[in-house]
Amino acid sequence: MLDIATDNAIADHRTYGNVGLQHRLFGELRRDDPVHWTQPQGYRPFWTITKYADIIEIERQADRFINAPRTKLLSIDFESKVREAMSGKPMLVRALPQMDNPDHGKYQKLTHAWFQPRHIRTLSERMAALAKESVDRLVAMGNQCDFYNDIAIYYPLRVLMTILGLPRSDEERLLKITQAYFGGGDPEMQKGSDLIDATIAYVDYFKDVARERRKNPQDDVATVIATSEIDGRPIEDFEAYSYYVALASAGHDTTSATIAGGLLALIENPDAMARLQHDPELLSDAAEEMVRWVSPVKHFFRTATADYDIRGKTIRAGDSLLLSYPSGNRDEEAFDRPFQFIPDRSPNRHLGYGFGIHACIGRHLAKAEIVAFFREFLGRIERVELAGALAWTETSFLGGVKRLPVRYSVR
Ligand code: HEM
Repeated sequence: MLDIATDNAIADHRTYGNVGLQHRLFGELRRDDPVHWTQPQGYRPFWTITKYADIIEIERQADRFINAPRTKLLSIDFESKVREAMSGKPMLVRALPQMDNPDHGKYQKLTHAWFQPRHIRTLSERMAALAKESVDRLVAMGNQCDFYNDIAIYYPLRVLMTILGLPRSDEERLLKITQAYFGGGDPEMQKGSDLIDATIAYVDYFKDVARERRKNPQDDVATVIATSEIDGRPIEDFEAYSYYVALASAGHDTTSATIAGGLLALIENPDAMARLQHDPELLSDAAEEMVRWVSPVKHFFRTATADYDIRGKTIRAGDSLLLSYPSGNRDEEAFDRPFQFIPDRSPNRHLGYGFGIHACIGRHLAKAEIVAFFREFLGRIERVELAGALAWTETSFLGGVKRLPVRYSVR
């Protein structure tokens, strides 16, 4: 039965620390009330959208369902803390997820070509070298490690630092900021910091990078952004560093969580692992299935600009909607055997990267990273199994496993 307990559970970070519970909750919503008016205690109300087709219908209409001003689920207390921290400024950062058209289109265009497969292919040697370095580390650790904390969190961060042209010596600092940023409500991940402090720390870190790149252009995406123009004028520093914050934050734990959750899926499905070891060409499909399976981004919000009817419910202008990507990706009406990990699933038009004009700009990069990692890993590691209790990040926004102890043997 759907009641206030359901509404509280949707907003409660702890729900997402128990993946079975998360899928049960959203399965009930898909079945009993797929467009669900949700009023959790301590949160402004919103509609929870759980069906694949409805998420697409909403994301397809970017003028009727906009991103600003509510992009994700924050408690009322937290929202007022954010307002205080902004002290008169319109927002702490302003990048693609906070923008709507016409600005969104203008800013997306700046890096569009850079993130297309044709350009991502030029990074493949560097990516393969970083994947090799990660597996070298795994091998050097012997036959046991915490795969998430020892391996998975470093590799995508190093890829990001490479594309932004940042020095390796800054790695620990950036890692700390990202983890605080995405720790959500999880006390273990936040380590005393919170989203606001983490955003300020990001801004502090990136503030001078744009200026520096204008003086000394490099072959990196930070330079592409810093030297770009909007409406015929050089991009403002605020929008340039906001862009860096968006890339660094959106590009890191999404990919770490997918790689760690992807490995867990292979451990739980030894036949899939054997098939990929035997035929690495399947990795391209498997990388998509890993994103569907893990769905590390749990939601984004949209706000309706006009009344809109969907599944017999009327969304009012000004109402906000939580789009549940993990739920859309387990929708029985959209996927054959959605609760099975099928490495060569095809077609696989999952929502793990979102949909429409805001669909992830880093998706080709992310896919190349996942493929490069598992190509190296499966080529060198013969067997892998769980070596202890795993744990999931308690966050309603972005995350996956936060502890993944594994035992392995090297070929
Ligand atoms: C497996 C890894 C990844 C996943 C699952 C993922 C998922 C997502 C999702 C669900 C969205 C929101 C889509 C929507 O609103 O419809 C998004 C947006 C975005 N992602 Fe990713 N992402 C990943 C990797 C990356 C990487 C590597 C980068 C860049 C280096 C990146 C940069 C962005 C940016 C800038 C946006 C905002 C786009 C916009 O609002 O127009 N992501 N991503």
